[in-house]
Amino acid sequence: MTRVLVTGGAGYVGSHTTKALARAGFEPVVFDNLSAGHRWAVRWGALVEGDLEDPAIIRQALAGSKAEGVLHFAASIAVGESMTNPQKYFRNNVVNTLHLLDAMLECGVKNIVFSSSAAVYGNPETTPIPEDHPLRPTSAYGDSKLIMEKAIRWYGEAYGLRWAALRYFNAAGADAEGELGEEHDPETHLIPLVLQATIGRRPHVEVLGTDYPTPDGTAIRDYVDVGDLAEAHVLALRSLMEGGKSLAMNLGTGQGHSVREVIAAVERVSKLKVPARDAARRAGDPPVLVADPARAAEVLGWKPRHSQLDTIVESAWKWSVAPKHSG
Ligand SMILES: NC(=O)c1ccc[n+]([C@@H]2O[C@H](COP(=O)([O-])OP(=O)(O)OC[C@H]3O[C@@H](n4cnc5c(N)ncnc54)[C@H](O)[C@@H]3O)[C@@H](O)[C@H]2O)c1
Repeated sequence: MTRVLVTGGAGYVGSHTTKALARAGFEPVVFDNLSAGHRWAVRWGALVEGDLEDPAIIRQALAGSKAEGVLHFAASIAVGESMTNPQKYFRNNVVNTLHLLDAMLECGVKNIVFSSSAAVYGNPETTPIPEDHPLRPTSAYGDSKLIMEKAIRWYGEAYGLRWAALRYFNAAGADAEGELGEEHDPETHLIPLVLQATIGRRPHVEVLGTDYPTPDGTAIRDYVDVGDLAEAHVLALRSLMEGGKSLAMNLGTGQGHSVREVIAAVERVSKLKVPARDAARRAGDPPVLVADPARAAEVLGWKPRHSQLDTIVESAWKWSVAPKHSG
């Protein structure tokens, strides 16, 4: 069986992807320091508890697992925090990713699927956003992802590293079978925040900006189901292993939904009223972020299958009211 090292595999997108990898016949080995991930989410492969800060542990994990590829999810992920603590973002997302790349070279592991982000685009000039749109991040987080996309590309040119940089838009939803879901602390993503407000885990949800140039005045985002993202990673890894081209690819649906539409979907699905309050815009949030997903469709044959807004909200709702795991 082909082994793959999954950094950040105890986290949200990484854990759903380990399940998809195991289903597709790979053997995932999770590498995670559990700073934001969960032991209970590691169910489809071994867990190596380690930090990407430590090059020796990464080399050991790569050599010990005989991995033939790496899926690199581990990162610090909060855009707002990156503006007040950029040091954390450049250390964890840049320096630590360089440790990983160097360990891959030393161990002769040639394939990497890298979790990039729509944050590499900054304020879009066109919508939907194609991959050749100018890359001008407006946050330290976005810059940390862009720097690593560039480094990975140069490692490809010089050392033969084969790579896919997957630029996710808004990952959302939960495992269709209810085995996994989103558990970030602190939570910064809209759908879980709306759900938490709906079930009384927070007093209300804030609608950040009601005066955007959009039909209902609230910001529009492209929500993509986490299971669909997981599929795309399996396809990208296979493509690299079969000699496919190294590329950056958007992962989104091409459809945007406003904050008010998300709240309405939660009310439809939960049959409860969402306590929402209008608030000021958050600095740096663009009005509309929607992917042009044509490249991933063409290169990987990837089509989101579970990313209709109500389907996403349905799985996230079920997860939010399910008994909680611990650890
Ligand atoms: N969630 C989204 O909407 C979204 C959108 C765009 C891009 N991304 C990217 O996708 C990836 C996964 O996001 P997520 O939402 O699953 O995040 P997450 O926080 O749930 O998962 C990240 C995992 O990485 C681990 N980790 C962090 N630093 C580490 C280190 N130094 N060593 C070992 N493990 C470490 C954490 O413990 C956690 O399990 C990230 O790279 C993120 O930037 C996410």
